[in-house]
Amino acid sequence: MSEDHISEEAPPEVHHYNEIGEVPWDIQNYWAQRYRIFSKYDEGVWLTDDAWFGVTPEPVANKIADHIAKYAPEGRSILVDAFAGAGGNTIAFALSGRWKRVYAIEKNPAVLKCAKHNAKIYGVDHKITWFEGDCFDVIKNQLKVLGPYSVLFASPPWGGPGYRYDEIFDLSTMEPYSINTLFTEYSMFTDQIVLYLPRTSDVRQLAKYVKGTEQATVMHYCMEGASKALCVYYGDFRGPSTD
Ligand SMILES: C[S@@+](CC[C@H](N)C(=O)[O-])C[C@H]1O[C@@H](n2cnc3c(N)ncnc32)[C@H](O)[C@@H]1O
Repeated sequence: MSEDHISEEAPPEVHHYNEIGEVPWDIQNYWAQRYRIFSKYDEGVWLTDDAWFGVTPEPVANKIADHIAKYAPEGRSILVDAFAGAGGNTIAFALSGRWKRVYAIEKNPAVLKCAKHNAKIYGVDHKITWFEGDCFDVIKNQLKVLGPYSVLFASPPWGGPGYRYDEIFDLSTMEPYSINTLFTEYSMFTDQIVLYLPRTSDVRQLAKYVKGTEQATVMHYCMEGASKALCVYYGDFRGPSTD
């Protein structure tokens, strides 16, 4: 870890837990998997207690970054990560080396500090432009002109752990942003959109946003034989199904 990391001051809601005794009970399961979430955890990774629940584990984030890098249309050189969280996906996008610039938006200031700090640990902070604020506002007011050159990735909140118990997850009632809100807002910015959603998401609802006879690809991302989540790819992504 560089001096720079050590000298940084963490806000009070940000932690780096070293021992199980320090970890709140509801996070202990996540903490036990800390190296799968961030392989460089011991280098001083920061998380807020809430961020543990939403962070994309590193192998999954790397696989998604790899797929987007490979399958996105060539003319797209910017990756916008609308919900950066603690940086799981943002770091993977920056590490992929595919993007001229990664733009990362997060509305919670403490969580954004975690993402910036974690990106430094992974050596990619300089490849990322950070925005603190509401992604819909930032995209509309600060990034609008970049739309035609961008791929938009969004890993929105899923409305708490309830999604785990639904056989089919109703994306129209997803809190706080429904599939309709996400798609409508983002499609005003770009037509290359990737959404990271619960594994049980209703694919019929996803299909509604496919234009005419175009196609969307749904890809499940698995760890140890079980789907963790899925991504739906809207736009001109080449992929296993179109190769
Ligand atoms: C599921 S987490 C993202 C996790 C991230 N992909 C990672 O790997 O760390 C969702 C994040 O979106 C943030 N958020 C919620 N509403 C937002 C909004 N309107 N604009 C920007 N960020 C928002 C939350 O604070 C939360 O950190």
